[in-house]
Amino acid sequence: MKKFSVVIAGGGSTFTPGIVMMMLDNMERFPIGELVLYDNDEERQAQLGQALKILLKEQAPALKFSYTTDPKEAFTDKDFCMAHIRVGKYEMREKDEKIPLRHGVIGQETCGPGGIAYGMRSITGMLEIIDYMEEYSPDCWMLNYSNPASIVAEACRVLRPESKVLNICDMPVGTLRRMSQIINKQPEELEVRYFGLNHFGWWTSVKDKEGHEYIDQIKDYVSENGYLTKVEVDTQHMDQSWQDTHKKAKDLLAVNPSYLPNTYLKYYLYPDYEVANSNEKFTRANEVMDGREKEVFTAARNIIEKGTAVDSGFHIDSHASFIVDLARAIAFNTHERMLMIVENNGAIANFPDDAMVEVPCIVGNNGPEPLTQGKIPAFEHAMMFQQLTVEKLVVEAYIEGSYQKLWQALTLSKTIPSAKVAKDILDDLITANSEYWPELT
Ligand code: NAD
Ligand code: G6P
Ligand code: MN
Repeated sequence: MKKFSVVIAGGGSTFTPGIVMMMLDNMERFPIGELVLYDNDEERQAQLGQALKILLKEQAPALKFSYTTDPKEAFTDKDFCMAHIRVGKYEMREKDEKIPLRHGVIGQETCGPGGIAYGMRSITGMLEIIDYMEEYSPDCWMLNYSNPASIVAEACRVLRPESKVLNICDMPVGTLRRMSQIINKQPEELEVRYFGLNHFGWWTSVKDKEGHEYIDQIKDYVSENGYLTKVEVDTQHMDQSWQDTHKKAKDLLAVNPSYLPNTYLKYYLYPDYEVANSNEKFTRANEVMDGREKEVFTAARNIIEKGTAVDSGFHIDSHASFIVDLARAIAFNTHERMLMIVENNGAIANFPDDAMVEVPCIVGNNGPEPLTQGKIPAFEHAMMFQQLTVEKLVVEAYIEGSYQKLWQALTLSKTIPSAKVAKDILDDLITANSEYWPELT
């Protein structure tokens, strides 16, 4: 079988060790001959790179491994780029979360003003790595899960329409795993229907392969417990704040009992509750810096000091194996059914063709083919159209350098109460992001 050459962009990510170990665990399904880490922060990446070098020498000596900040070296002769960059790193995530909170508004990585600020930074970084990929490996595919995925996907649609970039999110995968626990099944046994934008959608059906529908049984459970399940798998979604999020799905279902909600809808449907339950001095960025980031980089230091990765503290992120499923779908034309972020083009019948939506797709060697989800009802449609317009305005603001359009985007976000508050937040975000955003006039 062909062995693939892979570059991970954002090599210094807290998710890199888990994903590399997951790929090792999947070598029979997806053989890798060469793996390169690429990052623009040499020091951050080197800590993980050195540790992984030791680990891979022990566990996969035949695999050619390196890490670099040189784009040419990283992107030459690659089949796949797995991209998980965070432009501005946790330092800027913390500001995305804390600045809106100072104005009494949701402070979140991908939703509301924080997501908009992050989007304005991410577009530049994403275009940079897409252009490197196309320059050095024109046939390479990028499997992107850098956030905020909706804004990134819309920017790709407008600015790099021909590029082989696939945008995917792990939230539906994680939630399906919880649903499968609720009904005592394995996720592979289930097939879903779903419509929405990224971090903004609903499941309309959860069936087994024989066609038995489980959605009512799952709704019964969620109406009491949210998506909190008794069986837990070790993922980043174990932290207290994520447990609260899974529980909150109960209140999301109460307002709209027709479908099963994506947990991120809580920021749009219960922003007052979320703000009241946030700590302006200690947000999710702090929880991650004190938790996952510390654990991963401490484990890396230990490996380097000991010179061995035996009992290392790096763990397989088996939750991320959907990335291998996606790479396999492209490489081996498996026609895997997956939720992807794609151009609508009629998949949701009564929604704009040029919207980047999240729907089930059949993925083969030409990429994803969306499955039609029919017409959607007024409540979901109105919420989605409002959010879609926010995302489109952000990308237009980025391209045109338009202060006015970004102000409109913030004003239209369901998380912000008025144009005045939107302007106050925008002015603070501009100051905080001066190194990263295009100039707005
Ligand atoms: P992190 O800050 O630990 O890692 C991101 C890395 O990207 C850093 O090492 C940084 O130096 C690097 N980087 C920034 N700009 C770059 C550029 N222009 N070129 C190359 N490298 C660059 O962040 P993390 O918490 O590990 O998350 C990584 C990304 O994955 C984020 O975008 C996060 O939102 C995303 N994520 C997505 C999903 C999903 O389902 N879509 C799930 C988890 C994480
Ligand atoms: C989910 C989402 C991702 C998001 C992540 C945040 O997995 O799908 O898009 O990046 O949560 O996790 P964190 O642990 O960094 O808050
Ligand atoms: Mn996501």
